[in-house]
Amino acid sequence: MEVRSEGNQVRYYDKLHAPVIPRSRFRVWFIRVCSSIVLWTCLVQLVTVSELWHFNFFSGFTSRIYNTTQRPLQDDVRSAPLPPTLLPPRNYTSNGFLRVSCNGGLNQMRAAICDMVTVARLLNLTLVVPELDKKSFWADHSGFEEIFDVRHFIDSLRDEVRIVKRVPKKFSSKNGYSTLEMRPVSWSNEKYYLEQILPLFSKHKVVHFNKTDARLANNGLPIDLQKLRCRVNYQALKFTPQIENLGQKLVQILRERGPFVALHLRYEMDMLAFSGCTLGCTNEEAEDLKRMRYAFPSWREKEIVSEERRSQGLCPLTPEEAALVVQAFGFDRETHIYIAAGEIYGGERRLAQLRAAFPRIVKKEALLALDELQQFQNHSSQMAALDFMVSIASNTFIPTYDGNMAKLVEGHRSPPAGILVLKKPSCWTGKSLYSCLICIKTEPFHGISLQILCDRFMKREWDSQLIVGLL
Ligand SMILES: *[C@@H]1O[C@H](CO)[C@@H](O)[C@H](O)[C@H]1NC(C)=O
Ligand SMILES: *[C@@H]1O[C@H](CO)[C@@H](O)[C@H](O)[C@H]1NC(C)=O
Ligand SMILES: *[C@@H]1O[C@H](CO)[C@@H](O)[C@H](O)[C@H]1NC(C)=O
Ligand SMILES: *[C@@H]1O[C@H](CO)[C@@H](O)[C@H](O)[C@H]1NC(C)=O
Ligand SMILES: *[C@@H]1O[C@H](CO)[C@@H](O)[C@H](O)[C@H]1NC(C)=O
Repeated sequence: MEVRSEGNQVRYYDKLHAPVIPRSRFRVWFIRVCSSIVLWTCLVQLVTVSELWHFNFFSGFTSRIYNTTQRPLQDDVRSAPLPPTLLPPRNYTSNGFLRVSCNGGLNQMRAAICDMVTVARLLNLTLVVPELDKKSFWADHSGFEEIFDVRHFIDSLRDEVRIVKRVPKKFSSKNGYSTLEMRPVSWSNEKYYLEQILPLFSKHKVVHFNKTDARLANNGLPIDLQKLRCRVNYQALKFTPQIENLGQKLVQILRERGPFVALHLRYEMDMLAFSGCTLGCTNEEAEDLKRMRYAFPSWREKEIVSEERRSQGLCPLTPEEAALVVQAFGFDRETHIYIAAGEIYGGERRLAQLRAAFPRIVKKEALLALDELQQFQNHSSQMAALDFMVSIASNTFIPTYDGNMAKLVEGHRSPPAGILVLKKPSCWTGKSLYSCLICIKTEPFHGISLQILCDRFMKREWDSQLIVGLL
């Protein structure tokens, strides 16, 4: 969801219900208990070393904090050379070919790819390299190979599932084979795939899932399948060298300036048009956004009252609110903030307050030369990939909307320590932010109860990753 990556007509709709990736028990718990929370606001990350527990975070950002929490580039891990000998391919009789067309922005598609590999493994299928969405709001024409390292994808999973670049010619319609087009039922578990989908392969050698978002249940799957999903997400999906290199360059430039916050400011046109959240927009802008919403048939909800949406906690933070939240966390004016997002709706006008509070905010356009970025510029998913890399490597990551990007970045960072919940925006008009915080999780993390973490947070001396959502 980025940025443009989230910008898919279809995906938005689904996103509202859509946890993405297998998650820890507590998060499952959280989702159940707080199904009304849709907007997670802040995720601040400060721990790598448990010894830091007693560090007083808010007493000031010293280089020590950042140094100790500096994260490796996600790809320090991923680009580690594969073991010299790849694992031997799994020997199984394929039941047929699975073609998939992913829908949505980059991160939604990423989650779907993890699911589809898992389905192919479960059913002993041969997976065809996934097709990416080219018709989403931002119309990025990048194929899989322009975003992900396809060789690595195929090779690193070969001990689980066979992946090919295309369906062999002999299974084409010319030779009497028909491809079955379908969209599997959302949130289905392994039984559905074994009982309803597998038999289709005895009739059709090739089945094409033309929609993939949320087509596999998040929870209650056998652990082996969950593990495979994670393996795809964390190991098999690696960006192309072009993206990796530019992403690492961005991270390096940022790190040279000191510790930095990545703010996923999901205040982009597609998000606002889809969600109907128009607080702070001019009447004209609100009309534009509405027209856009009506123009996209797959954005099913058309009449939306912005205030209602907001009071339900379904809106992304506005740039002005984001400024308040980041300030409330104790970041000072000197903080370097990288805006991990595409074009902010309303442009500089809407960024004014954030810029006034944090003069050192930057976007990738300001960090890279025009020609470096040029080849990516018309490819929203590639731009989103850069933001993804920077977000993972940032000292602190703060999402402003609980979308796929936020979830995936959180997943790539260490597990969350606790959850703080912010009551509705009506409660917190800046000054009263702290009085609107309530702690809702009580499971211990690293041996420290959440209550203690929350207490510390309230006293501005917390020291771990916290997630803040809106109630
Ligand atoms: C990190 O620590 C080193 C010394 O260990 C120091 O020279 C450097 O300035 C610190 N980095 C930052 C970003 O402050
Ligand atoms: C794969 O398994 C089949 C049946 O178990 C066996 O006949 C065949 O030799 C195996 N192939 C390889 C390459 O191990
Ligand atoms: C997949 O293949 C394995 C042997 O490699 C077999 O035990 C299993 O039953 C097969 N599953 C399906 C769904 O075909
Ligand atoms: C997917 O296939 C189904 C069944 O053929 C069809 O109704 C639907 O329109 C297709 N969707 C897309 C996005 O192509
Ligand atoms: C990007 O697309 C716009 C509009 O389609 C076009 O004018 C521009 O030249 C393109 N830029 C690049 C670098 O391809």
